[in-house]
Amino acid sequence: MSRVAVLAGGSSFERQVSLRSGARVEDALERLGHEVVGIDVGRDLVGRLRELEPDVAFVAMHGAGGEDGTVQELLEILGVPYTGSGVPACARAMDKVATKHLLLEHGVPTPPFFAFNQTAFRELGAADALPAIEERLAFPIVVKPSSQGSALGIKFARTAADVPAALVAAFSYDHKVLLERFVDGRDLAVSVLDGPDGPEALPIVEAVPREGDVYDFQARYEIGRTEFICPAELPDAVAERARELALRTYELLGCFGFGRVDLLVDGDGELHVLEANPIPGLTETSLLPQAAEAAGIGFDDLVGRILASAFAR
Ligand SMILES: Nc1ncnc2c1ncn2[C@@H]1O[C@H](COP(=O)(O)OP(=O)(O)O)[C@@H](O)[C@H]1O
Ligand SMILES: [Mg+2]
Repeated sequence: MSRVAVLAGGSSFERQVSLRSGARVEDALERLGHEVVGIDVGRDLVGRLRELEPDVAFVAMHGAGGEDGTVQELLEILGVPYTGSGVPACARAMDKVATKHLLLEHGVPTPPFFAFNQTAFRELGAADALPAIEERLAFPIVVKPSSQGSALGIKFARTAADVPAALVAAFSYDHKVLLERFVDGRDLAVSVLDGPDGPEALPIVEAVPREGDVYDFQARYEIGRTEFICPAELPDAVAERARELALRTYELLGCFGFGRVDLLVDGDGELHVLEANPIPGLTETSLLPQAAEAAGIGFDDLVGRILASAFAR
């Protein structure tokens, strides 16, 4: 039995999801017999950790601050063991542009893209390069901030006229954005869990929008309007390759403990890695717990395993 500080909340756009992940993790840790203290992460974080002297921190944070290496850096400085990926892996994985460059360097398929920071538009006339980009990517084009989750700030531009507003939306979330080739395909998520024999890919989850326009995020992400199928119905060879690519992505980024890799599979069965999430959601409707369940790992067991990995780093 350990004294565990569960870190959740913070000030990212995904604060509410994190609070739900944190509450569920706290319940599980209590059932496992640990002494649990929940911390809503804010300005007093360092003081509270010094006062509490936890044996370990369970980081249930998503988005900026909690998933990008910031909180992990503080935990390193304080000498508190923590769950999940370390500082460099978090920093790389939360940056979709850095992730995609790494994947391309190692031959992992990811949709073609161009990335810009705000300076390029404000000071270097990047807008004048848009027609060349549009020609190379072809419409529709996906515009997204480099470092968000939960589909925040992502827009599909169907024509050149849609691009400026999409860029403005993406820049409201991050100073760096990417324009990416649209892949007409199915949404797959491969969760990865570290075990005694190294990282293992869990059964694949497919997210199927129940109704509405495929370009409409409301339709895709509103609870009840997306159906999750686990294990996803895929030819064996495609499923095997998706798991391989997810593990390769996880390892290239240097992730640890657990994570989730999002991919698309197109009509030809080709796979395209979109991104990796170093701290995927742990709520009732989240994908990693569903995948674990399908592998016979209940939620308490999952939380117990993630906690144990913090001491194995
Ligand atoms: N290039 C793309 N082509 C088609 N759909 C995409 C593309 N990029 C993102 N999407 C859709 O947007 C969702 C979220 O994109 P993702 O890159 O995983 O960002 P987030 O960090 O917000 O999850 C994907 O699950 C997929 O449905
Ligand atoms: Mg995603």
